[in-house]
Amino acid sequence: MKVIITNDYDEMSKTAAEIIKEQINKKANSVLGLATGSTPLGTYRELIKMYKNGEVDFSYVITFNLDEYVGLPDDHPQSYHYFMYENLFNHINIKKENIHIPKGISDDFDRDCKLYDEAIEKFGEIDLQLLGLGVNGHIGFNEPDDYINTKTHIVDLAEETINANKRFFKSIDEVPRKAVTMGLGTIMKSKKILLLASGKNKAKAIKETLNGYLTTDVPSTVLSLHPDATIIIDKDAASLIDVEKVKENDDVVLKL
Ligand code: GLP
Repeated sequence: MKVIITNDYDEMSKTAAEIIKEQINKKANSVLGLATGSTPLGTYRELIKMYKNGEVDFSYVITFNLDEYVGLPDDHPQSYHYFMYENLFNHINIKKENIHIPKGISDDFDRDCKLYDEAIEKFGEIDLQLLGLGVNGHIGFNEPDDYINTKTHIVDLAEETINANKRFFKSIDEVPRKAVTMGLGTIMKSKKILLLASGKNKAKAIKETLNGYLTTDVPSTVLSLHPDATIIIDKDAASLIDVEKVKENDDVVLKL
């Protein structure tokens, strides 16, 4: 993996946005895998700025989001549908038909999960997958477990995840207990992966991600098997890693 350590959140966001811009400028019809949460917000803001400055054109870009809460309709302010339109899609020239987000409400999730995977497969692979990181090392909503489904599937959210995400809801009782998420198999098939993390609360998960072992207790450790994964973290998220030790397995770029 390549590990880029930046001074702060803004620098992390700008670095990520530059890489995404380059990807789109290299291939206008790039298939992007997109993430939600507070981490990619700055990256989306930068991409919107770049679009407004005429530096990038989304008209042929295709997107697949990682996940959605089960039970929330698209127009619910905490749904990932709402998040994506509010924080990115409404501000760029992407075509609605090129946007894909798993459905949070369905009369047949098995069918819809299968259709989601088939829709991705129709485009071949995801060219660039953007990822945030859960405090417990989850990517998308692939939570730590003995077994992790590799395809799009329904998951029970971990207690840590429900606690971490309750800040967006009026009370913890309103946080959905289940979600639909792209599986680790699809994520790992992406040609390029960009994982972002900032802040001290991600330091432990980052340390484990870069420990050089593989465990389903920390789903992000699977990224060490990917041929083109880049991790962009700020100083705080990097605060528990031993840079010299990480250099034994990974390329480290310090922007400090
Ligand atoms: C959420 C999402 C993930 C996200 C992660 C971190 O629950 N399902 O896709 O990467 O948790 O969120 P945040 O960026 O807000 O810390």
